[in-house]
Amino acid sequence: MENLTFFNIAFTYSSISFLLLPFLLSVLCQNGTELGPEGCGCPLPSPPSVDELIFRDIRLAVVYPIIQAFKRTITADPLNKTANWVGSDICSYTGFYCDNPPDNVSAIAVAGIDFNGFLLSAPTLQGFADNLPDLAIFHANSNRFSGSVPDFSKLRYFYELDISNNAFSGAFPTTVIGLKELSFLDIRFNSFAGEIPPEIFNQPLEVLFVNNNEFTAKLPENFGSTPVLYLTLANNRLTGPIPRSIGNLNSTLVEVLLLNNKLSGCIPYELGFLKELTVFDIGSNLLTGPLPCSLSCLDKIELLNFANNLLYWEVPEELCSLTNLVNLSLSDNFFTKVGPVCRKLIKSGVLDVRQNCIPGLPDQKSLHECAEFYLKYIRLCPYPSSYKIIPCRDNAGWNHHWGGTKAETKAGTETETKNKKGLITYKTLSRHKF
Ligand SMILES: *[C@@H]1O[C@H](CO)[C@@H](O)[C@H](O)[C@H]1NC(C)=O
Ligand SMILES: *[C@@H]1O[C@H](CO)[C@@H](O)[C@H](O)[C@H]1NC(C)=O
Ligand SMILES: *[C@@H]1O[C@H](CO)[C@@H](O)[C@H](O)[C@H]1NC(C)=O
Ligand SMILES: *[C@@H]1O[C@H](CO)[C@@H](O)[C@H](O)[C@H]1NC(C)=O
Ligand SMILES: *[C@@H]1O[C@H](CO)[C@@H](O)[C@H](O)[C@H]1NC(C)=O
Repeated sequence: MENLTFFNIAFTYSSISFLLLPFLLSVLCQNGTELGPEGCGCPLPSPPSVDELIFRDIRLAVVYPIIQAFKRTITADPLNKTANWVGSDICSYTGFYCDNPPDNVSAIAVAGIDFNGFLLSAPTLQGFADNLPDLAIFHANSNRFSGSVPDFSKLRYFYELDISNNAFSGAFPTTVIGLKELSFLDIRFNSFAGEIPPEIFNQPLEVLFVNNNEFTAKLPENFGSTPVLYLTLANNRLTGPIPRSIGNLNSTLVEVLLLNNKLSGCIPYELGFLKELTVFDIGSNLLTGPLPCSLSCLDKIELLNFANNLLYWEVPEELCSLTNLVNLSLSDNFFTKVGPVCRKLIKSGVLDVRQNCIPGLPDQKSLHECAEFYLKYIRLCPYPSSYKIIPCRDNAGWNHHWGGTKAETKAGTETETKNKKGLITYKTLSRHKF
């Protein structure tokens, strides 16, 4: 998470006000006139009602009953995280973070919630998270929350939602659709099922993690409308082909995990347009056809996994020439040929072609299995002529755009990218906060 800079902003501010809090409170407590009819009530002994307490800000008084009502619905708190959710000092409750809201920098409000790993159980978050008017971030990885996902549309600053590794089920949470400020959505490791609604791909998200659910159905045609940088759809039961519109993500998509689904059809030529792509993992699906030569335009690609599919023909030498590749996994397919450039990558441990149909190489499928596949299952892909085209080289427009920058960018970024490859998306494949 530390790698996503947009995530850190609100938390930095929150922790500043969080640290100042004890000081501010002691000032207020020393001054009797600030403390209302009951006199100095600090420290407060037991949870009183809202009108018996003195709050630093009206906004904290407003959310106090909401938090206390939610606390009463919590059915399990094995780590005793809610023990200090008592009294008016909401900004020091475990898991709550305050900040000055953008509409009034003199005010103090609950801006962030981070319940990651708290193991809390409650029947619903509705009426709680959606009733904290200044909430910007709600993180609740690894709890036992269930019920309907709240509707955050009243929260004007809300931009990050993480409800991963909880007990949510049912359809994709439609309440997150249309949230214009939402940039981070993580619902992985729940039991959501059905289709991933097309509307989510029209939303201005930067991060979308929906891996390890039970989603079925095809990827919608407007898949290529999403501006996300990091996308994980792995470990669901998605079907159908990779939409050709994926080519529109040429300037945005950085990492995408599609492994362990039931995606089928041929690899669209347009995949080669994704010049920002560093990680593409579609291992263990049902893809067939040859590898399009356009893949050799994936200049920044480091991890490319097509293992355990039904791909065939030769491995394009141009693909093996990509200089940032650290892992090209083509094992368990039906490839029949690798040239000298690719053989070098096999030697250096970058290219894995075990369990294919390549004569003379070790650890290949049986001749019988290969022959059967080639005789029975091969179907032509649509637009067969596109498989030979290398858009960044064969087309004048592309040449113009790509030439020159290639050498320059490589020198500077190589060491940085080598260290962070797959760091963000691959960590989503474990249940816990990453
Ligand atoms: C504290 O109380 C005194 C009078 O007892 C008052 O003059 C002063 O303004 C108060 N301080 C603050 C910060 O309100
Ligand atoms: C929970 O924390 C409170 C306050 O720190 C303490 O009094 C209580 O004994 C704790 N309960 C458990 C079950 O640990
Ligand atoms: C801003 O917040 C402060 C502290 O709550 C409050 O005293 C002030 O009236 C607010 N200003 C506006 C314009 O609402
Ligand atoms: C990226 O795709 C868009 C839409 O398809 C296109 O207009 C644009 O020229 C492409 N950019 C590059 C750098 O290829
Ligand atoms: C390459 O990627 C595959 C698929 O993700 C993985 O199983 C394998 O361990 C990786 N190999 C290396 C050397 O990192």
